[in-house]
Amino acid sequence: MSDGVLATRVGALRFRNPLLLASGFLDESSHSMIRAWNAGAGGVVTKSIGKEPRRGHPNPSLVPVAGGFLNAMGLPNPGIDAYEEEVRHTVKAGAACVGSVFGGTEQEFQDLVARMDKAGAHAVELNVSCPHAKGYGTDIGCNPQLLKSVTTAARKGTKKPLWVKLAPNVPNIAEMARVAVDAGADALTCINTLKAISIDVETRMPRLGNKVGGFSGPGLKSVALRAVWDCAQACPDTPIVGVGGIMTAADVVEFLMAGASAVQLGSVLIDADVEAFGTIGKDLAAWCKAHGVKSLDELVGAALP
Ligand SMILES: Cc1cc2nc3c(=O)[nH]c(=O)nc-3n(C[C@H](O)[C@H](O)[C@H](O)COP(=O)(O)O)c2cc1C
Repeated sequence: MSDGVLATRVGALRFRNPLLLASGFLDESSHSMIRAWNAGAGGVVTKSIGKEPRRGHPNPSLVPVAGGFLNAMGLPNPGIDAYEEEVRHTVKAGAACVGSVFGGTEQEFQDLVARMDKAGAHAVELNVSCPHAKGYGTDIGCNPQLLKSVTTAARKGTKKPLWVKLAPNVPNIAEMARVAVDAGADALTCINTLKAISIDVETRMPRLGNKVGGFSGPGLKSVALRAVWDCAQACPDTPIVGVGGIMTAADVVEFLMAGASAVQLGSVLIDADVEAFGTIGKDLAAWCKAHGVKSLDELVGAALP
């Protein structure tokens, strides 16, 4: 894939193209992250990693629904001690790598951010927005005081770019964006999954093992796009990474025009696997050529008032 026209920046960090691997997809090992990178990803975001290993929620943890998927993985991960090596390998392979972390306390966030930094991650993303892990995720990301204290603590753990991934399950995402930026976030990732449920009418039971989960996939796109749009206006000097329901190059263009400097691909990979990076990248380059766009900078925020 030719990179020239597709190169982008999220603050100080340069990516060869705007298509990053979203946290939670093909990122349990360096092997699969490097596979995404070799298939043309502009960069990869790791699985969200905590202090200790965690098994996650019981199955079923991913079910298809109209417009996408519901998942309640419950943040399964091997813990930072085991995962550091995966980050090192990924970075050594030349991939731009953002380390995603989650914690239950300010100190945990600060320590995990520092560990990701030390392992070589080029930036760290705070997952304060998982909708199905009690005490973590949205319990933090939906509470302005907690969001502030966690971001402030995490900021102390690294001088590298700090991204905060916001939850859509709030009345006013722009307010949460301002809280994160005022507490030291260098970039905002919009958005994590939308809290949701699905019921099996035969068993009269929720279909997910955890009952409640997060909605992702094409049905989430307009919600994510609106979040980018709102945050870009609330925090005009802060770069935004868009994520939610991106399936095509046209979707990417929409996110750029709403104010994102880069995007993350998640659910599209469930069917298309890493080939999506090559296909969407090629289509995006062709779209730029057909529209006389020489640099993605021309598109970022183009639709904003
Ligand atoms: C199975 C699955 C696992 C996920 N795991 C994580 C995770 O560990 N950390 C995180 O920040 N987001 C996680 N997410 C959320 C995605 O990164 C992304 O924000 C969401 O799926 C919306 O994008 P999409 O519609 O392109 O999938 C996960 C989503 C799914 C479906």
